[in-house]
Amino acid sequence: MLIKSAKFLISSQTHDKCPKANLPEYAFIGRSNVGKSSLINMIAGVKKLAKTSTTPGKTQLINHFLINEEWYLADLPGYGYAKISKETRAKWENMIKGYLLNRENLLTTFILVDSRIEPQQSDLEFMEWMGTNEIPFAIVFTKTDKLSRNELSRNFESYKKELNEIWEELPHTILSSSENKKGKNEILSFIEETNKIFDPSI
Ligand code: GTP
Ligand code: MG
Repeated sequence: MLIKSAKFLISSQTHDKCPKANLPEYAFIGRSNVGKSSLINMIAGVKKLAKTSTTPGKTQLINHFLINEEWYLADLPGYGYAKISKETRAKWENMIKGYLLNRENLLTTFILVDSRIEPQQSDLEFMEWMGTNEIPFAIVFTKTDKLSRNELSRNFESYKKELNEIWEELPHTILSSSENKKGKNEILSFIEETNKIFDPSI
């Protein structure tokens, strides 16, 4: 898929404030600092479309972008950041889970995990919650440019092994890097294919 246009639409605090659910939508989620906003900029081909930061917790609201006037992309705030209060965490849960459970046009959520580290409890718990609620997701491994080919394949295999112990069927997995654009075509082709199943009458 060629990206002809990409624009920021709105930041929302709740799912009912999001843009009209009349186009297919894809959300990007994962622990703070995993590279969600960077990945969005990489696949959209626009450097500063989504705001990135070296300090975790940059994205605080549900940010909607319109791509090619034909599908939405939603950048979500990260989870699993240790240095936040219970209150902030509860607010996050309400906002994100409310969005994921109620957004009718959401076709796939990309859960981003850092390819350099072993499976994190917060990621596994979040995937389990998605599974329990039957919300479709794919897993994107980020920052692969920071690993050698051997390290990456070792980490990727052990991650899949751990997932295999939990899931009967392995979720779709994609390797990516916002630095060298790895995974861009794969993610865009996945979206292009999935767009075809969107039912505009919902
Ligand atoms: P929050 O919004 O705070 O939850 O973070 P985020 O997941 O949106 O992460 P963000 O895209 O802001 O990136 C966090 C940091 O990781 C930044 O310093 C990025 O430059 C860096 N980063 C993101 N993706 C990559 C990647 O693929 N490779 C490398 N080397 N660095 C990356
Ligand atoms: Mg972000």
